[in-house]
Order: sequence, then structure tokens, then C-alpha cells
Amino acid sequence: MNALVCNNFGLPDSLAYQTINAPKVSENQVLIEVKACGVNFPDTLIIQNKYQFKPALPFSPGGEVSGIILETGNKVKRFKKGTRVLALCGWGGMAEQVVVDESRVFPLPPEIDMITAAGTLYNYGTSYYALKDRGQLKKEETILILGAAGGVGLAAVELAKLLGAKVIAAASSNEKLAICKSKGADHLINYTTEDLRTRLKEIAGDKGIDLVYDAVGGKYAEPALRSVAWNGRYLVVGFASGEIPQIPLNLALLKGCSIVGVFWGSFAEKEPAQNYQNLIDLIQWIKAGKIKQYIHRIYTLENSAIALKEMLERNVIGKAIIKVGNWEDSSISVEEKRSEESDQMIPAQTESLPVTFKTKSDLAKRIGTNLGTTEWLKVDQQMINQFAETTRDFQWVHIDTEKAKKYLPGGKTMAHGYLTLSLASQFFYQLISIEQVNSFVNYGINKARFISPVSEGSEIRMRAGIANVEEQINGSVKLFLNCTIEIKGQDKPAYSAEIISMIF
Ligand SMILES: NC(=O)c1ccc[n+]([C@@H]2O[C@H](COP(=O)([O-])OP(=O)(O)OC[C@H]3O[C@@H](n4cnc5c(N)ncnc54)[C@H](OP(=O)(O)O)[C@@H]3O)[C@@H](O)[C@H]2O)c1
Repeated sequence: MNALVCNNFGLPDSLAYQTINAPKVSENQVLIEVKACGVNFPDTLIIQNKYQFKPALPFSPGGEVSGIILETGNKVKRFKKGTRVLALCGWGGMAEQVVVDESRVFPLPPEIDMITAAGTLYNYGTSYYALKDRGQLKKEETILILGAAGGVGLAAVELAKLLGAKVIAAASSNEKLAICKSKGADHLINYTTEDLRTRLKEIAGDKGIDLVYDAVGGKYAEPALRSVAWNGRYLVVGFASGEIPQIPLNLALLKGCSIVGVFWGSFAEKEPAQNYQNLIDLIQWIKAGKIKQYIHRIYTLENSAIALKEMLERNVIGKAIIKVGNWEDSSISVEEKRSEESDQMIPAQTESLPVTFKTKSDLAKRIGTNLGTTEWLKVDQQMINQFAETTRDFQWVHIDTEKAKKYLPGGKTMAHGYLTLSLASQFFYQLISIEQVNSFVNYGINKARFISPVSEGSEIRMRAGIANVEEQINGSVKLFLNCTIEIKGQDKPAYSAEIISMIF
């Protein structure tokens, strides 16, 4: 396989892009086909032998990946071949394949694309733990974020806003600060052209700052600590400047403040349940479009040393991502999708149905867009009776028209929820057509909810959009459709579901 390899410790220029043997799984590990790898500051340290973890040479940098499981060890329980995952590998991610302990691998929800996933764990995981668990950040409190346009810094800006805080973003250039502003920062300080302490006094007055988030260290630490409010907290997150500040401890006494260490990696290991809960919160927010990592640039595996170099030169804003492998179509659609302001489905253009795709790979170009809405279809008693016959479910609400007249709203029987669900196939044929395809097989359903009963004689139709497309190792494609079945004349739909099909 191809990989970026650290054969001797040194700066990014000393790394080699070369072919090496693929790693082998041991019993508690999974082998992942890497689709994307997030770039983080520790990657720049690990290649220089300056990080707390010291892998034996030769090794590949890259601590967090998204990808697809290729193989599982004998004792692995939670995963199987083909599962989409994100994983904290520590190193080894800037390669086509990586092995990771099962405990450090997480299933990836279908709504989250591979690029987003690879930029999620380190930055949001660290900053959420820092703000919520270590910093006890409360609504209306003021937070100063140093290095606010960096990976963890920008994640902290977004999360602090989401938690209701007033955010002061500090960074080294106006370009970086503009991105912080776009993520909601209330005040901006350019610490290369402005005096940090003076500006903080102007913004926070005599009261001072409730919380400081410091991932930079060096010369900004002391003025930041001197600006902390009574009962304030100072979070020690990292030392990107390369300098560990020496702080006069009398400041902590005089301010009545706490200096609090943040080590997310150890937290994840020592308190896995709490960490897992945090990740669930983050995944929900990503799915809901409440947080969204700013992607600086997507690099190829071959060019991944450039990403590390740019990070060391302070030229990365937000997140740099390495895209591994040849999945051009879906990656292009991911980038197109990312450029949209919202994660909402884009309304269908007026195009005739079915929407026709030349190949199954073309589906990925439409991720995040609506396909359209079908014709109305009447659900009559004959259909309901046939369904009861087939499923042997003869509950009176479905088949007893006399009793229904007496007891049910509108005097009509109700279609079985699974009957309306089973009509999905005929709606699909109206919505989508793929040329050069052998078969279209039902794969499963995520999050189906029956919202409103469908009374006999009602007309229903399907509205659907492409939520995600996953190319499989065997050349097939998994298609995730967001489907809503509307009922004529009613606001509430019959059901909504994410329906998954496997296309061969
Ligand atoms: N404690 C934990 O659990 C934890 C977890 C993850 C990361 N970290 C640490 O947090 C720090 C930031 O990580 P990151 O992945 O967010 O890195 P990043 O994206 O490179 O951000 C670091 C920021 O620090 C600022 N900086 C100041 N002097 C710098 C220098 N000499 N070289 C590089 N950057 C400099 C830069 O902003 P300006 O140019 O605006 O100053 C840069 O945007 C690192 O020290 C990392 O090890 C800690």
C-alpha cells in the first residue's frame, strides 16, 4: 500500500511517500481502508519525536481517520467488514490502510460524510471536553480563545457559541479572525498588531474574562491570566507556540482563579463512558448542522507532508484533511455540499421524474439534494385487506369497516404502518432510475417513524432526497434516501424514514 512514512525523525520535508506492506490485524483490532485522515498539531510533533507517544520507526503519522472496515480480528464484536467508521489511531492514518484497536473505533452515522468525519474527533472532542467538563462554561459567560482559528481553537469558538457564551477570538491575522467571526465570535483581537491585555480590558472591563482557552502557550499566557475574572478558569490545552509558559502562581491566588489542565486523550481512556456521551452530543450537533468544521484544504495522500508543513508554518485555518484513495466522484460532491451554507436538502430543480443517472457512481453528485415528489396514490380497503392476508395481522382497526364506522375518526379503517412503508418501492420507481445497473436491493431502514395514521381512501405520495451514497469495496453502492410519505390534505406525514438500498 502507499503511505507517508517517517523513516527518521525530523521536519515534514524528511517524510517519504512510499509503498510499504499493509498492516496485519491482531485479535482485538480492525483493519480500516482509510478514506480521509484529519491533520492535527500532534502529527507535527510525533514526526520530530517531540510528542508524548513515541512509535517505533518507521511509522506513518496521522492520528484520526474515517474509512471502511476491511477486516476484523477474531475477538472483535462490534464491527464487521464494510462498516463505515471513524477512528483514533494515534498514528498510521496517512496511509491507505491502518489497524486500530476496536475500543478506539466508532461507527459513523450515514448522514456524516468521510471528510467531515475525519475532522471531528480531535478538535471537537478536545474542545467540548475542555469547555464543558473542565471549564464548566456557563451561558452568558465570557471566554477568550487563543489561537482561535486553529483546529481546536475554531471548534472551541463554535462550541462556546452553542453553549451560549460571549466569545473573544484571538489570532495572528485578520484573515484568520474573519473566519472566527463567521463562526460567531463576538469580539476579535489580532495579537500580532494589538496589545492583548489592553484589548481584553476594553472588552471585559474590570470584571475580566470568565474562561480562557489556551492552545498556544508562550507569551500570550500571562496577559491572558492577568485578565481573568474572580472565580475564573484558565484552561491549559496546548503549546502550539512551542513555548511552555512559566506562570507566577501568585496570580492564581490574587484572582481566586483555577488553572485547569485539559488532556482529552487521557480523559477518553480513563472516562470512556463520559467521553462516548460527549461524542454522541457532537455527532447530533453535526447531523443537525449546528456545528461544522471549517475545512482549510483537502490534500492528497501524496501531498500530505505539505499539509504538515503548512500547519507548522501557521498557515492552516480550521482543519486540513488528507483524502486517501480514488473516490473522486463522492469527494467532489462532499466539497460541493460543504460550500452550501446549510445542511438542509437543496430543493429539487424542476426536472422530470424519474431522475435518471447514467451510472450508480453518479448518485454521489446529488448528495444533499431532493429528487422530487411522486404522484398521489390512493390507499383503498382492498390493499389493506391484501396486506392483512399476507401478514396475518387481522386487527379490527384495519379490516372491520363496520366497527371503524362507529369508533374510528372519520369512520374509516386505517392502513397498517408497514403497508405504507412497503409502498416505498413503487414510489422509488417513479423517483429514480439508474442505467447500467443489475439490481436494486433493499438493505435496511434507519430511524423510521410512523407519525400519522393513513385512513382508508386517503391519498399518499413520497418526497425523497439523497442523504448519502457509499461506494462499497465490491463495487456496489449503498444509497441512503431521506423519505417522507405525505397524506393529501394533512400537515403531518404518514412516516419519515431513511431507507437504504444496495445497488449492484
Ligand atoms: N490537551 C489536549 O487534549 C489537546 C488535544 C488536541 C490538541 N492539543 C494541542 O492544542 C494545540 C493546537 O492544536 P491544533 O491541532 O488545533 O493546531 P493548529 O490547527 O495548528 O492550531 C494552532 C494555532 O496556534 C497558533 N500558533 C501560535 N504559534 C504557533 C506556532 N509557532 N506554530 C504553530 N501554530 C502556532 C496558530 O494560530 P495563530 O497564527 O493565530 O497564532 C494556530 O492556528 C497543539 O499544541 C496541540 O498539541 C491538545
